[in-house]
Amino acid sequence: MRPSILALPILAYAAACTPAAEQAQPQTAAATPAPTVAPILTGEDARDASSYARPAEARVTHVALDLAADFAARRLSGTATLDVAATRDAKQIVLDTKGLEIRTVTDDRGRALPHALGAADADRGAPLTVQLQGARQIRIAYASAPGAEALQWLSPAQTAGKVHPFLFSQGQAILNRTWIPTQDSPGIRQTWEARIVVPEPLSAVMSGERLTPEGEPAATGTRAFRFRMDKPVAPYLIAIAVGDLTFQPLGPRTGVYAEPATLPAAAAELVDTEKMVETAEGLYGPYRWGRYDMIVLPPAFPYGGMENPTLTFLTPTFIAGDRSLNGLVAHELAHSWSGNLVTNAVWADSWLNEGFTSYFENRIMEALYGPRRAAQEAWLSWADMEKALKELGPDAAGTRLHDDSGADSGGIVYDKGATFLRTLERSVGRARFDAYLTSYFDRHAFQPMTSARFLADLRANLVRGDQALERSLLLDQWVYQPGLPANAARPDATAFAPVDSAVAAFNAGGAAARVPYGGWTTAERLRFLNALPRTLPQPRLAELDRNFKLSDSGNAETLFAWLQLALANRYEPAVPAAERFLLAMGRRKFVAPLFETLMGQGDWGQPIARRLYARARPMYHAVTTSAVDKVVK
Ligand code: BES
Ligand code: ZN
Repeated sequence: MRPSILALPILAYAAACTPAAEQAQPQTAAATPAPTVAPILTGEDARDASSYARPAEARVTHVALDLAADFAARRLSGTATLDVAATRDAKQIVLDTKGLEIRTVTDDRGRALPHALGAADADRGAPLTVQLQGARQIRIAYASAPGAEALQWLSPAQTAGKVHPFLFSQGQAILNRTWIPTQDSPGIRQTWEARIVVPEPLSAVMSGERLTPEGEPAATGTRAFRFRMDKPVAPYLIAIAVGDLTFQPLGPRTGVYAEPATLPAAAAELVDTEKMVETAEGLYGPYRWGRYDMIVLPPAFPYGGMENPTLTFLTPTFIAGDRSLNGLVAHELAHSWSGNLVTNAVWADSWLNEGFTSYFENRIMEALYGPRRAAQEAWLSWADMEKALKELGPDAAGTRLHDDSGADSGGIVYDKGATFLRTLERSVGRARFDAYLTSYFDRHAFQPMTSARFLADLRANLVRGDQALERSLLLDQWVYQPGLPANAARPDATAFAPVDSAVAAFNAGGAAARVPYGGWTTAERLRFLNALPRTLPQPRLAELDRNFKLSDSGNAETLFAWLQLALANRYEPAVPAAERFLLAMGRRKFVAPLFETLMGQGDWGQPIARRLYARARPMYHAVTTSAVDKVVK
């Protein structure tokens, strides 16, 4: 019996086929099989303020999409058929929608069901309330809006091949409601299937089992692709990409999709993927999703990566030629456990996804590439955390792991969450902590998680009544308080010792030529660039640029670190490189800070920012423009 699961109420419906008792399986060595209907948590801590759904009354258990992609109209249109589990007296079901054009709503026999769209909210969109009239399956005919925030429709010019258009989706956190009318809440897991019709010669891929790799004939000039996800997933994990795609296998269950022009470099960068999956399994138990494929998207993709199940979405900016940025892949892969298997029930607990994953990522890197690379990357993350703590202030609500302030945490949950888990690991020892984490993923596989539920599980299965241990861990402070608790485990301080002495020598007036930059790892180079004083005279910047070819760097992370420094010092020779970079990709993490830096440089930087943004904005995804619009005015 699992006390944690029984202590918190879990819903069962009259119509749901999985009884609560069946969900409460004892922990076993083998992976717990996926339930067909996953439980919903009903505690106040699991109430999702970002969704209109009222899952305690009626919830979606399965989504079947039948959609056609119209590139000219920039719309996906067709039907979504939803399986519903409802209490006996539920009269209606409430779905999340945003900008959807709803055409008809019918039951499984084609009978029209009364429905109403409520008032729209800029973030959450509008609730769609459907009168069930006894139905347990409803079909919605609809179309997405041309400006749907989850979808980016790329013109041929925005692709590598320049010939065909491209479409991709980005659901996290609450954007999928702009193309799928369902309950868009991470605590309401759903199985799904899809049939997607696309113009020839394009192909469609999705974040589930690909049933028709070559597609099948559909209406003239089109092909249909079918997909299935038979494990219940949070709806933000339903994802699609359509384009001129080719596939290259990397191992028995791994491979990569990309445009033909991108595929060779992408595959070379990803050669270690199969080993990564094996390494991750060695750490925390079986990979439960079948295949692990990736798609390298056009450069407008607004994130580094997105952990869509069976098909991680990646930015091409991780391609450095030397695999030095493949920690990104370890990260998205790790989400196959922390995030996709055990999922934050509400976005205020996103640290349960991202903090766990950042810790897990670093463990994969250590196991695969050794403790030195892992310590260096952990140290970069620690430095980012310290910077964020300093900027936000140690008492800021945005520095809490459980962050229900609605404030933008600036990503601190990644680094602080990883530090919390590293602190737990150091306290109880690696072997014991790894065994605990493996059992945690198994106990809660395919279920939502909250901070309170995690702490209860940790106390029941790791602390186990050890009072001294409980006192030393400061668990509640870690999760609910701002700032950094006193017991925080620092990464290996010697990781960057040689780099830090080089920084000191340079700061004391030493020549750039004496800095062994060329022999350093990417992490060491980043440490160096980020540790330099933020104000440097032009000749010193020129010296750095000349010696290390910084403006010509093919590594997006080091180029970004350099441009941040150079632009903050109004270093004119770096402007062409900044222009090239900002026009060539739309990754928010790079784009937004660079525009901020330019806008911070008054009469020098602001005209550059405005001129550049006017050209670049049409290429960027809504995720990126919504951040930059706040900066460039
Ligand atoms: N799940 C995130 C991406 C995300 C976060 C999308 C929040 C929407 C809202 C993904 O796993 C991620 O964290 N990506 C990082 C890379 C990682 C190595 C830190 C990114 O995109 O930079
Ligand atoms: Zn992540």
